[in-house]
Amino acid sequence: MKILLTGSKGQVGSALERSLAQLGEVLAVDRAGLDLLDAGAIRRKIKELEPAIIVNAAAYTAVDRAEVERETAFAVNGTALRVLAEEARKLDALLIHFSTDYVFDGEKRMPYVEADAPAPLNVYGQSKLEGERAIAASGCRHFIFRTSWVYGPAGRNFLHAILAAAKTQAELRVVDDQRGAPTASVAIASAVAQVLASSDFSQKPSGVYHLSAAGETTWHGFATAILQAKGLKTPVVAIRSDEYPVAARRPKNSLLDNAKTLKTFDVALGHWRDGLATIMRAMH
Ligand SMILES: NC(=O)c1ccc[n+]([C@@H]2O[C@H](COP(=O)([O-])OP(=O)(O)OC[C@H]3O[C@@H](n4cnc5c(N)ncnc54)[C@H](OP(=O)(O)O)[C@@H]3O)[C@@H](O)[C@H]2O)c1
Repeated sequence: MKILLTGSKGQVGSALERSLAQLGEVLAVDRAGLDLLDAGAIRRKIKELEPAIIVNAAAYTAVDRAEVERETAFAVNGTALRVLAEEARKLDALLIHFSTDYVFDGEKRMPYVEADAPAPLNVYGQSKLEGERAIAASGCRHFIFRTSWVYGPAGRNFLHAILAAAKTQAELRVVDDQRGAPTASVAIASAVAQVLASSDFSQKPSGVYHLSAAGETTWHGFATAILQAKGLKTPVVAIRSDEYPVAARRPKNSLLDNAKTLKTFDVALGHWRDGLATIMRAMH
């Protein structure tokens, strides 16, 4: 089974490069190997390699910067997906893609199901929604896994930001009015490998599937758990979102209901606290 993996240097991409290796020949490309801003390069790469599966882990993920770099965000998260999906359809390849809780406005009280109407609050969310829609419209076989609050042992993420801040600040002030499930990159990658390892994955219906860790917390709760895991005593003060001004608005509720993924693929991620413990062990 030939698998083309894009975005191989990202949080999820680098974890996928390891988890997919057991399944077949993985052709992993980072931005230097395939720039998603270059439609011609995408078409050439797919024609040349003829993969059976394309796993796209590349994305424009700078949520606040996207507010001023709208065009680039839409080009990478939207237009490039239309091209990838068109090429996948020509080859009858399966396209696996990742999307985000930020396609929702966070006004729902319960966790979001796949059938809930998206209404993104920020440019990043809008660009990711455009990518989802381009894939669906292409008619290619696809699984779009929406996940949330991704972190891992490497890369720019909340975990590393909190550990770095705790080194220099007497106390941390962290938002406590956004709910979500922090999801470890490696957990996402092993779940995708588990899906592809099953004998009947190609019979599963194309569509959007929610894939986030179990349980819930706030950014404040997550920061507290990170410091505890490290044995750090830095106080964490709970603040409201409006006390921490950023360019992009975030949903108050980022929780995803993962029942459809469990029912379809028999795959579920563990509790976010267990994911954090695994990542902390891997960082030692
Ligand atoms: N991070 C989160 O909290 C989060 C939450 C929900 C969903 N997701 C989704 O999960 C997926 C994986 O996210 P992640 O956290 O692994 O992101 P990440 O660590 O930011 O990785 C994204 C990768 O894409 C690459 N990339 C950016 N622009 C590119 C381009 N024009 N051509 C080729 N590669 C390009 C980046 O390269 P450079 O480093 O060179 O820019 C980076 O290696 C994405 O679809 C994301 O939208 C993430």
